[in-house]
Amino acid sequence: MSDTKLVIGNWKMNGSWAKLCEFADAALRDRPACEAALCVPFPLLAAAQSALQATPLRWGAQDCSAHAAGAHTGEVSAGMICEFGARYVIVGHSERRAAHGETDGQIAEKVQRVRAAGMTPIVCIGETAAERDGNQTPAVLRSQLLQLLRTLGRDLVRVIVAYEPVWAIGRGDAATPGLVDDTHGFIAETLAIHAGLPAHSVRVLYGGSVNARNAAALLSRPLVAGVLVGAASLQAAEFVDICRAAARCADVEPCVSP
Ligand code: PGA
Repeated sequence: MSDTKLVIGNWKMNGSWAKLCEFADAALRDRPACEAALCVPFPLLAAAQSALQATPLRWGAQDCSAHAAGAHTGEVSAGMICEFGARYVIVGHSERRAAHGETDGQIAEKVQRVRAAGMTPIVCIGETAAERDGNQTPAVLRSQLLQLLRTLGRDLVRVIVAYEPVWAIGRGDAATPGLVDDTHGFIAETLAIHAGLPAHSVRVLYGGSVNARNAAALLSRPLVAGVLVGAASLQAAEFVDICRAAARCADVEPCVSP
């Protein structure tokens, strides 16, 4: 696995053509020395392709259909997303699990569709506050990971996993680096025990209230392969700052915050 850290922006239901142009200008000025991408709403995929293709930023979507094509009104297939040059598709975000009842089984099907279309799925896993308070975090993460392993087996190495504790999303307060170490350690151990996958063979991101102030502390953790950023990915200057932190943390040695 590459030691380059990955920064993925999740714009959720935000953004515009004008905002994409701002990001393109910022990326051309600062040329982030890390892998970075913006996952935009479907109608902005064409705009992302046109605004970002000459920049170091890549782009992607935030969901896709579990079906390949056909009578599925309102859905968007992975193949359609790929036509716009997208590299990544976020799958199983907790907002979709909660608001649309997405199950681990459906998420695994979507992951397969994204892979079949030649893109990289970013699969979100994580526990709710109630599950954390009930000491269920290991059981929840294990069951989410095992469903992925049942579907993908050792091909999981071609997928990016994002650990996003639901209680840390949109709160302003990220999980502490200590907790992130413990949880990413648990994820690595689960993948090793159940699939013989060595640590670092699957890229595992952290997501949940990542911003320019806490990015370096989180990105410097050896088992954190990158970050999935919501609100803080909507301001070009802040996103570029997070990318700078990722570039400074490109090796697995803990790095120093500015
Ligand atoms: P946040 O969102 O950075 O605004 O907490 C992260 C996410 O939902 O992916």
